[in-house]
Amino acid sequence: MKQFHSFRLDPVSRRLWRGDEPVTLAPKAFEVLRYLVQHADRLVTQEEMLEAVWPDTHVNPEVIKKYVLEIRKVLGDRSDRPTFIETFPRRGYQFVAPVHETSSDTSAREPVRPVNMVGRDASRTLLESCLDRALKAQRQVVFVTGESGVGKTTLVDAFLRRAAARASLRIARGQCVEGFGGKESYYPILEALGQLLREPERNPVVAALVRYAPTWLVQFPSLVKAEAREALHRETIGTTRERMVREVCEALEHIAVDEPLVLVLEDLHWVDLSTLDVISALARRRAPAKLVLLCTYRPADVVVAESPLRVLKQDLLVHELCVEVPLEHLAESDVGEYLEAEFAGADFPGGLGRLIHRQSDGNALFMTAIARDMVEKGVVAERDGRWTLTRPLADLAPEVPATLQEMLEAQFTRLSAAEQRILSQASVAGERFSLWALMTERDLPPDAIENACETLGERRRFLRPAGVHELPNGTVSAHYEFRHALYRESVYRRLSDVTRARLHRMLAERLEGLGSRGRRELAAEIALHFEKGLTYDRAIAYLVIAAENAAARFAYRDSIQVLRNALTLLPRVAAEDRAALEAQLLERIGDAHYWLGEMAECARAYEAEAAQAARNGLTAVQVNALSFLIRPFGLTDPDRGITAVEKAVALSRDLGDPVLHARTELLAAGSRLLYDTWHREDWEICESAHRRLEALSPADVPDYHRMIYAHLLLLQGHYAEALTNLEGGIPKIDEPTSLMVHLFALSGKTVALLHSGRLGELMRIVRAGREMAHKNGNDPWIFVFREAWLRCVVLDFDGARRLCDSVVGTATSDLARQPQTIARLAAGYAELEQGRHDGAARCFEEILDPAITPKFFVHWYWRLNAQLGLSNVWLAAGNLDRARSDADQFLASALSTAEPNLHVLGWDVQARIAVAAKDWNGAEASIERGLDVLERFDVPTVAWRLHATRSELSRHLKNEEAAEAHRVRAEGVILGLASSFEPDEPLRHAFLDASPVRRILRPGPSHRRVRERR
Ligand SMILES: Nc1ncnc2c1ncn2[C@@H]1O[C@H](COP(=O)(O)OP(=O)(O)O)[C@@H](O)[C@H]1O
Ligand SMILES: [Mg+2]
Repeated sequence: MKQFHSFRLDPVSRRLWRGDEPVTLAPKAFEVLRYLVQHADRLVTQEEMLEAVWPDTHVNPEVIKKYVLEIRKVLGDRSDRPTFIETFPRRGYQFVAPVHETSSDTSAREPVRPVNMVGRDASRTLLESCLDRALKAQRQVVFVTGESGVGKTTLVDAFLRRAAARASLRIARGQCVEGFGGKESYYPILEALGQLLREPERNPVVAALVRYAPTWLVQFPSLVKAEAREALHRETIGTTRERMVREVCEALEHIAVDEPLVLVLEDLHWVDLSTLDVISALARRRAPAKLVLLCTYRPADVVVAESPLRVLKQDLLVHELCVEVPLEHLAESDVGEYLEAEFAGADFPGGLGRLIHRQSDGNALFMTAIARDMVEKGVVAERDGRWTLTRPLADLAPEVPATLQEMLEAQFTRLSAAEQRILSQASVAGERFSLWALMTERDLPPDAIENACETLGERRRFLRPAGVHELPNGTVSAHYEFRHALYRESVYRRLSDVTRARLHRMLAERLEGLGSRGRRELAAEIALHFEKGLTYDRAIAYLVIAAENAAARFAYRDSIQVLRNALTLLPRVAAEDRAALEAQLLERIGDAHYWLGEMAECARAYEAEAAQAARNGLTAVQVNALSFLIRPFGLTDPDRGITAVEKAVALSRDLGDPVLHARTELLAAGSRLLYDTWHREDWEICESAHRRLEALSPADVPDYHRMIYAHLLLLQGHYAEALTNLEGGIPKIDEPTSLMVHLFALSGKTVALLHSGRLGELMRIVRAGREMAHKNGNDPWIFVFREAWLRCVVLDFDGARRLCDSVVGTATSDLARQPQTIARLAAGYAELEQGRHDGAARCFEEILDPAITPKFFVHWYWRLNAQLGLSNVWLAAGNLDRARSDADQFLASALSTAEPNLHVLGWDVQARIAVAAKDWNGAEASIERGLDVLERFDVPTVAWRLHATRSELSRHLKNEEAAEAHRVRAEGVILGLASSFEPDEPLRHAFLDASPVRRILRPGPSHRRVRERR
């Protein structure tokens, strides 16, 4: 309810009051006012107003003026000195009076008049005692079970009314929808949360989501300020189902700390699996919470649907984590009581109750329907203010229909033709529907539909009003719902197959008209209607969107499930469309497995896609599918990945699609460089492909390709340019979340920071990444071994090895290759420090042995480092020949790459060996070559070593002055690296304390003198 000055506007009942007086306004004038009031914070343009109030008709903007005039008259407003509506000539209008929200306006579900509930005393007591316990912060999970129409919802409603009278509490309801299970992850939970978020006292709810459930907060974009959206998006990338579930539990528990919360989830026989996870978790968690989770379902339908709900409830019961309230049929005495309450003071013959009880078998819905039917037929009538039976009881029995279905059918046939048509359409639309959705046929004008629903609702036949709600395209429409699911079913069942399909299809097309936002939000529903409308290709298209929606809720398993579902529809699609659709579905299944880190399944899906495309002559699709294979195979079997992309290149050559060809070439050459060895020619292919792509169509360079390219830049020392490319790979809002591309980008970024000596920044990313992985229950491997690499660079070899060992145990074997290698490298240097040369050599040799260390991402970089390690071992052991042989090999290999760090290290080790051999000229020459590299590249993590070697050489040459100058340069680089850390970062101290560094920072007495002179 919106209040401004003395006026109150109820958007649900579409009424306006001045004080307690109702004010009359034409319906469209009301809509104009409602729209202005609801957007009171801003100017509403004429176009926007036309779109909102007259979505389907073309009207002259002048019309708005007319209505505004009428509104002003009613409100007593003046256009020259407006209190309410200000006109901005030719632009639009703004509502300027302060607007307050009074009481909640979403109580539309509440029936006009509470049911006179009979019986159920024991069930009520049971529920009451649950509430007692919940109020003492012992969470309660209750399942109210029973057949359709037995009275579950009625009991829940009565309980809620009592509960609300007893304590101030929050109530949220979520309703499962037939046909949505498995397609709409978390549907009822999101609905219930949405309700809490529309309440006037929503602030604690918002706060709880912000604090405890960012992954749920992103599901309600309107709650997030634009500037916070990107950060939130990044923070939730790679979220797992476990995290979603844990977070919503935590948020609900915190909402229920001060004010009790009753969460009602209705009709769980149609529930989705993700919601079941939440129910299970809520029931099992132990933290105190004033929470009642009240669920209803029909056991028979749970069995039919083979839903895991039955097992879940059983398990919770066994562990006394839930309470079941099974509802039985009403007793004869209950029926009598019902008649007394419903027809107060009636003098019915005693047998009436018995008759109704026998006929309805104690099904509450059937019972009330019989009673209402009797009134309608005049069998029960009010005479002189008293309800009486107008005919002898004995005559009645044969007239009462034997089943509820029969009775509803009879009632249906008594409706007008138009009413029947509208109800038929509505039964296709679902238990609750908007009038807007029904407006599909020309000969049934909107007014006729509105009137029919209104009368059906007023006479309490079949329908009841369910409030006025905004549709995803901003249109406001009255909603109605069937009085009960069985009413809808009875109408729906009457339809012939042909009519049913036609109505479903028409409805699907109508819903498509809700614009792109609506199409996305309602994808599962539209898919369902197209499927039942026998339009399978479009059903599949919407299932694909539904799968994306599931992924946006981090429910990748559901996403795969939806896509597999779509695959089963394929045989019914026209042959010529089938192949392309199948490829698309397989591709998305592969993607979802990739996001889940399931590389074998992922590769299987892409391979199936490639094979299928090949069979059907879809070469471009085949090229793409083969290209995708490098992603999973890069992690599990790089050679197989490279073979696949090379095949893709060959196929793409003759397709006449230069973008695709360039893309594939970039990928193939890039994969060879990253997973096999560095070859200059391959880099040239990449560069040329990249150049062509940027010229042809920069938007068509996929993120993954960008990441590959950025890593190639990194390997050549172009850190700034790489960083720019990498930033682009950290996904933005509204993009499907790809954890792997994100990690790929982040891991590249850490390498860039490492080599440019921005070590503190690197540590910050590592810490944040580890924290995110922890929240998601993911393996933090990538961050762990980046830190390990950093530790090697700052000479904390023991720390590096410990870290790697901690992930090697947990990471799957494919992912473990990189940390394993770093661990071996670190172990080698640790052994070397201890003077254990054999042990050190063994470590480095293991890295060089492909049988022990198979290929992995940039494995060659690590192998080169191992070769350097070996050379260092022989040098330390005084075996100059072997040292030189390894150093020569290392230098040659390093120079065959474009990696400047390796080049510097290659020249440095040459120089050190030369110094050891007293070959001063040779040393000088090597150092010169190394310095050349330093001229061109800023590579501080290796630069200090070369300066140190140079200082050493000068000392041997007795040039103390030069020795000190070079030492100071080395020192400067070291201090620069150290100061890039936070002051209290332990790694900073470890670095400054490492003996090679100490030797430079705290030289012998003669040097100190020179330093003091400076
Ligand atoms: N205990 C009761 N006493 C009187 N009427 C009842 C009772 N339970 C249900 N009804 C009537 O039966 C109708 C169907 O009950 P409902 O609670 O919607 O069934 P369910 O949710 O189990 O399918 C209600 O609209 C109400 O009119
Ligand atoms: Mg119900």
